[in-house]
Amino acid sequence: MKNTYIINTHSHVNMLEEINIDTAISNAQKAGIITIVPSTTVNDIFDVDKFIQQYNDVYGYVGVFPEEVRDFSDKTLSDMENLIKNNKKIIGIGEVGLDYYWDKSFKDLQKEVFIKQIDFANQMNLPLNIHSREAHLDTLEILKKYNKNSKAILHCFSGSLEFAKECIKEGIYIALGGVVTFKNAIKAKEVAANIPIEYLLLETDDPYLAPVPYRGKENQPIYVTYVAQAIANLRNTTTEEIAKSTTQNAERIFKFNAE
Ligand code: NI
Repeated sequence: MKNTYIINTHSHVNMLEEINIDTAISNAQKAGIITIVPSTTVNDIFDVDKFIQQYNDVYGYVGVFPEEVRDFSDKTLSDMENLIKNNKKIIGIGEVGLDYYWDKSFKDLQKEVFIKQIDFANQMNLPLNIHSREAHLDTLEILKKYNKNSKAILHCFSGSLEFAKECIKEGIYIALGGVVTFKNAIKAKEVAANIPIEYLLLETDDPYLAPVPYRGKENQPIYVTYVAQAIANLRNTTTEEIAKSTTQNAERIFKFNAE
């Protein structure tokens, strides 16, 4: 791999609508940004597999998002296993987890499928990229109980500093995105300023949650630099320092062994 500047650990660049996808990826490549694309549905795993093979510096996760777990079956696991065996650019399981914000009616099914995907990540010895919304305590409890050997990342972390510290005690990584640039995001700023740098990762979650000065517009992978800059300001350090540390952290978690 050439000079990597930042590893963007969660980007749905394949979902961009206004910004041209090829342009967004070439912007990121030129800036030395590696982009990791999660999948969301049982069919999307195939699309992400194909998508990431088209571009340098773009990797992927396979996994089923909490809102989509009604479609999950044993076949999904064997599909994911086949994709992983044949595509070395699939470097993690995600995005998986719990979301009680939109719909609490199938909490038990969400938990069951989350646990299955944790077991699967453990078998494959791959890291987990985790979505947790209004489900912090259940997410942590399940990870403590079921995750044996996979490095776990809480993507778009939305908890308090206290909760971040509890997670870090369990070896869980905290990924922050555009929200840290929002004026009113007191909790996220507190987390960004105070967690040990060894557990910090960067992301965009584009096309959503564009950082200031693009707040409200379509987000894209290269805007991760604004996230790094905001965190650097909060920690009284340089953007380069945040980029370097978070890249080292990501390189401990992921095997970028494909290109
Ligand atoms: Ni996402």
